[in-house]
Amino acid sequence: MSIRYLLTAALLAGGCVGDLTPVADDGDDDVPGTDAGTTTPALARGMFERDVFPILSAKCGAGCHLTTSSSSTPFVAAAVGTSYITATGFDSVVGNFTGPGAAMYARLVPGPHNGRTYTTDEQAKITAWFAQEVTERATNTGGTDGGTVSESPAQATARIISEWSGCLKLTDFTTLNFGPAWANKGSNQGNCEQCHTSGAYGFKANDDNTGMYETLTTNKYYMMAYFSADISDLANPKMVPNFVNFQRVGLRQVPHQEHPSFNTNLNDAAFVTLQQLYDLTMGYKTAGTCGTPRIPQ
Ligand code: HEC
Repeated sequence: MSIRYLLTAALLAGGCVGDLTPVADDGDDDVPGTDAGTTTPALARGMFERDVFPILSAKCGAGCHLTTSSSSTPFVAAAVGTSYITATGFDSVVGNFTGPGAAMYARLVPGPHNGRTYTTDEQAKITAWFAQEVTERATNTGGTDGGTVSESPAQATARIISEWSGCLKLTDFTTLNFGPAWANKGSNQGNCEQCHTSGAYGFKANDDNTGMYETLTTNKYYMMAYFSADISDLANPKMVPNFVNFQRVGLRQVPHQEHPSFNTNLNDAAFVTLQQLYDLTMGYKTAGTCGTPRIPQ
């Protein structure tokens, strides 16, 4: 076990931990994306390794985000060979590879984040990489028989996140006991709340249903840990339960090899609760009975 995990509980209160304050998006970026793909996007990977990793290595690895970090999401590998799987394996960092759908993006474009600034050239490289990820991960870009695509991937992402924030209802969090279901979900190193009760590493699992509702409906990054913005079919963008990421983390796939293991079966109680909350929320969306969005587009 790395020191990171031993330190986690003690570090919840300070440092870079849980630093997921929403930052303004510039809104006009046009980089689409999704993490729904199953094969490695070869061109995107090449762009990342050649153009983006050197930037991240110099500016994010130094100080906070190296894989050895004990206090911040460790998404920057020490060498280029494992850099791609390390960065893209953190859903909380790359999300769906759009401006509004990736926590990383607004920190770089426009930035600054923790004193790091990025040149126009660096920003262009990051934007181009994101766009390539989206292209390669898309299953339908709205071609001849693909349906109508009337908004950019970034616009679609911003819209469905915003709508979802108004569709989620506090009464469902309470009735389903969503907070306790996740806070008390076990792992081989204690329940989720032991490390994530305050939202460390981009994931919040807390007993308080009202607090969970407030956080997930006002901070899109915390929302996206549970519900990802799936734009793989650009004619039909939609929020989906983020089982993909929970499975990657719980099964300790790279780069989460040192994460505590936990049950990732879809019939696990917490997963069932997430599916139920999803179904109820989607029901309001379909019926047109959602509330006012709490997260602006
Ligand atoms: C002993 C501390 C500890 C416990 C217990 C723990 N985690 Fe984590 N978790 C971490 C650390 C450290 C990270 C960041 C490094 C990583 O992702 O491997 C993290 C990251 C995550 C992430 C974010 C991954 C991303 O997209 O960047 C998710 C989701 C997550 N944990 C889910 C869970 C769930 C679900 C449970 C309970 C079943 C749980 N964790 C229990 C320490 C813990």
